[in-house]
Amino acid sequence: MNGDVLIIGSGAAGLTAALELAQHCKVIVLAKGAISDGATSWAQGGIAAVLETTDTFESHVEDTMIAGAGLNNRQTVEHVVEHAPKAIQRLADLGVPFDLGADKHWHLTQEGGHSHRRIVHVHDATGLAVQQALEKAASAHPNITLVPDRVAIDLIMGRHQMRFSTSGRIHGVYALNRTTGLVETFTARATILASGGAGRTYLYSTAPRGATGDGIAMAWRAGCRVSNMEFMQFHPTCLYNLEVKNFLITEAVRGEGGQLKIPTTGERFMPRFDPRAELAPRDVVARAIDHEIKRLGLDYVHLDISHLDADFIRGHFPNIYDKLMGLGIDITKEPIPVVPAQHYTCGGVVVDLDGCTDAPGLYAAGEVTQSGLHGANRLASNSLLECLVFGEACAQHIIANWDGLPLPPDIRPWDESRVTDSDEEVVIQQCWREIRHFMWNFVGIVRTTKRLERAKHRIDLLRQEVADYYSHFRVTPDLVELRNLVEVADLIVRSALARKESRGLHYTTDYPEMSAAAQDTILVP
Ligand code: FAD
Ligand code: SIN
Repeated sequence: MNGDVLIIGSGAAGLTAALELAQHCKVIVLAKGAISDGATSWAQGGIAAVLETTDTFESHVEDTMIAGAGLNNRQTVEHVVEHAPKAIQRLADLGVPFDLGADKHWHLTQEGGHSHRRIVHVHDATGLAVQQALEKAASAHPNITLVPDRVAIDLIMGRHQMRFSTSGRIHGVYALNRTTGLVETFTARATILASGGAGRTYLYSTAPRGATGDGIAMAWRAGCRVSNMEFMQFHPTCLYNLEVKNFLITEAVRGEGGQLKIPTTGERFMPRFDPRAELAPRDVVARAIDHEIKRLGLDYVHLDISHLDADFIRGHFPNIYDKLMGLGIDITKEPIPVVPAQHYTCGGVVVDLDGCTDAPGLYAAGEVTQSGLHGANRLASNSLLECLVFGEACAQHIIANWDGLPLPPDIRPWDESRVTDSDEEVVIQQCWREIRHFMWNFVGIVRTTKRLERAKHRIDLLRQEVADYYSHFRVTPDLVELRNLVEVADLIVRSALARKESRGLHYTTDYPEMSAAAQDTILVP
């Protein structure tokens, strides 16, 4: 299938780019499963932007830089913060029903690390409203073709051309059709990676099942630099429940006054760790919870909002209220058991302010990237914002440079002549489980060089096994993801080993101090 522009991913980043591009050309958008299956639909808290006169761009920039422990690229931060109000207005124009306050202006909530109320939201299910509005507009647009159930395997480059070329230009992607089991060729003049993060590298994660870092691994294999992968964000408050393993309790619960307590004594412990208490940035809160859980041998800590008015709680957090009521927890009367879980991938494919990667013809936007916005720790509610700003930036750069984008050449079809159907699916499941367990135990919230080396050793063994398996058997969605998980786990561990300091989300007891100079970790393929 051939389009003018190919977008891999149908979340906030991909659909924002698609809607902008569709005014000029034909766009194909691929999704690994259903169109709404990405992290965007799961976002709860909201989107950060300076939207009232007592707040300033400078303050949003400073809060972002402080959360990011100074590793952010100030130019990128300023660019995103300044484009935020317009991006929010675009969503409102598409019909996103942001909550209104008593004064009929958008209601702004607060989250950790923000020194102002500046988060627009739709109750406690902002992402779903954003995804639905973007999807509705994209489905209705005659220039956009949404193609679900296609698992992108590898980017198409010069060596895949009928006439072999050493050009590093990207011409599209090979993708597995889940229904037919066949690998299809999608080509375009420009390709945008908007494939989300890599949270499922970890055993416990708030991210959806498909967050296996496919875009990061594909770009790396295609020769793009990848940066800051050691900065995996752990959200402090994921529900602790033996059946429901990845339900997030939004940071806005703490923003509205929720307190973290020791279950056995009822002690509110965050003031012992940071003067900002529950509103300290995520890395600080997650480490404090991890410390208390390990110190006291707990399974979880409590997040308590029951001291607030019951109608206020039900009005502001209707989804969380309903979900937890269904599990027998009345949050207006009792505390919520919570633990930290992997939540966001701060690192990724290196992009500039236009979303250009190192490979000609390849752009990237959203959680798959390292744009310089987040530094060593993402400020809450800055990521949907990044998707909106960079989705638009990629589209604008493609439109502005349209005449210089060559038509895709003839591409060789996917070659299956030397592989057979797998008779050992158990190998894939076993490797998946192994990776996610040792990443959780050895590359988690608090790290040591020894544990990172243990992880690296296991990755090296798994990499050989997976490569062997990949070269003998026909691809399946699970095999594609496993191959990418090994790649991404390797990038995370190599980055973590390279950082000889503790900064933001990367905390190692072997180098507990922060160095004077802030430097990105950049891996070159
Ligand atoms: P996604 O929305 O994750 O979309 C990825 C797309 O890529 C999907 O369509 C997927 O099918 C596709 N894809 C992936 N791999 C392939 C492949 N191999 N082939 C084809 N397609 C592929 N951020 C905020 O700013 N505010 C919040 O309140 C907030 N709350 C959150 C709550 C939760 C529970 C989680 C998990 C995250 C939250 N975040 C929040 C983070 C934010 O939701 C994500 O960073 C953001 O939605 C990422 O959007 P994206 O467009 O980059 O990717
Ligand atoms: C949340 O609602 O706590 C998530 C916000 C975010 O990840 O930005």
